Amino acid sequence: MKKVIIRKTEEIEHWRRNINSEINFIPTMGNLHDGHIKLISTAKNDNSNVNLVSIFINPLQFDNKLDLENYPKTIDNDIKISFSNGADAIFIPSNEDIYPPNNKNIKFLKAPKELSSALCGLNRIGHFDGVCTVVYRLLNLIKPKNLYLGEKDWQQLLILKNLVLRMKLNVAIKSIPTQRDFDGIPLSSRNIHLSKNERKLIKFFSSELLEAKKIFQQDKKINLNQIIKKLSAKKISIEYLEHLHPHTLQKARLEDNISLLAGAIRCGETRLIDHVFLMKRRPIIAIDGPAGSGKSTVTKLIANKLKLLYLDTGAMYRALSWLMIKESINYKKEKNLQNILKGISIVFKSNTNSHQDVYVNNYCVTEEIRSQKISSIVSKISSIKEVREFLVEEQRKIGESGGLVAEGRDIGTTVFPHAELKIFLTASIDERAKRRKSDKNSQDSQEIDLHTLKELIKTRDFEDSNREISPLIKANDAIEITTDGYTINEVVDKIIDLYNDKIPKETEIK
Ligand code: PAF
Repeated sequence: MKKVIIRKTEEIEHWRRNINSEINFIPTMGNLHDGHIKLISTAKNDNSNVNLVSIFINPLQFDNKLDLENYPKTIDNDIKISFSNGADAIFIPSNEDIYPPNNKNIKFLKAPKELSSALCGLNRIGHFDGVCTVVYRLLNLIKPKNLYLGEKDWQQLLILKNLVLRMKLNVAIKSIPTQRDFDGIPLSSRNIHLSKNERKLIKFFSSELLEAKKIFQQDKKINLNQIIKKLSAKKISIEYLEHLHPHTLQKARLEDNISLLAGAIRCGETRLIDHVFLMKRRPIIAIDGPAGSGKSTVTKLIANKLKLLYLDTGAMYRALSWLMIKESINYKKEKNLQNILKGISIVFKSNTNSHQDVYVNNYCVTEEIRSQKISSIVSKISSIKEVREFLVEEQRKIGESGGLVAEGRDIGTTVFPHAELKIFLTASIDERAKRRKSDKNSQDSQEIDLHTLKELIKTRDFEDSNREISPLIKANDAIEITTDGYTINEVVDKIIDLYNDKIPKETEIK
């Protein structure tokens, strides 16, 4: 494809009509560094869309005239960097193109107060309104499928995600972690203004944040005053240092698994920001929903793609049911039940096909636990209080350090009520019966006709939803996804998008 430079807004429309492809959009203000290169190359490697980089120093987002005048302008170099790292087109509009005088169609937007009055918004009055205005204008001109933004400006990222939702824009936001220089300071176009000594100070600031992250991993606590004291001792001028919820930007609460420690300091004329995410354990995805909604297939694929552990809690109930049948246990007798719970070991092991096998007391039961015989008793077994308590405890032990995706019927409500992402996956009874009938791995496909399968599913739903202990209910904060009419991959991609939206990419960096 011929690489092009577009300078006029009218040409954008013409270019868009001719490319015959979706667009990845990377907005910048120029003076491109490795952070921008990472955005451009990520977009290039993500898909086969056309990549458009914009270079526009937006006057509306500068609260200080001098800062605007001094903003580094390196356009020739920016063009070279963009094209050599995967841009197919570069949009370099003028001020008049973006903000034509007397054009009543230009919307001057306000950023939401809740997000823009914290952190950088405290001192940079109008800054985020300017960012919203320019990005909205650019998105309307370019109409991209994906918008690539850096997590370095985390508050900006949140505000732009909010803009996309608020204005109902059809664009997916993809974020990339903060890129750091050799000495650990975040890459920023403003770094070229730093003197040697100022650079030392920002390096100290960034390393203090990293240190706080390390301490948090051990103590699960943060002492803001101590950090402020250390910074002040080095005569670092702190604009703010806050410990907040990463999405609402309200004060972090004790129960928040992921929180944001963000600060801004002044070095001479230059103002620099940095942050770290504090995490008590790795993230957890909880996928609940009725039998046959596709949970297992979807959960396995997600675990694989996100490199998370796959916790199939249903298999644990089936495994226990299998042992009860095998040992002819009358589970109604308390003593029998206690003995079996005391002696059972349920273990998941990856097999050579990159799937997971289930072992009960060292015996592989992967196939056997899927039989109709087990299906017919598992709901009853799993409604026994002692069984539930025992297995919920086992599941929590497995999930202690997080990093897993768990499926079941009470994961989001009972087992992991603080999971970062909760999905309630469902499908109509017709759809679920059809899926089970065509599942070659299920013995149901050979043994039972469609009508009977539907009746069995209805009964199972009723039992699961009406049992006293941990009934199947959607957690208040779960996102319901009805899978009728969607392919498995579409459902998986949707859940991964939701995950990426909640979990900062930076938390994945070791
Ligand atoms: O992050 C930036 O460089 C700018 O705020 C943006 C998103 C290009 C809007 O001018």
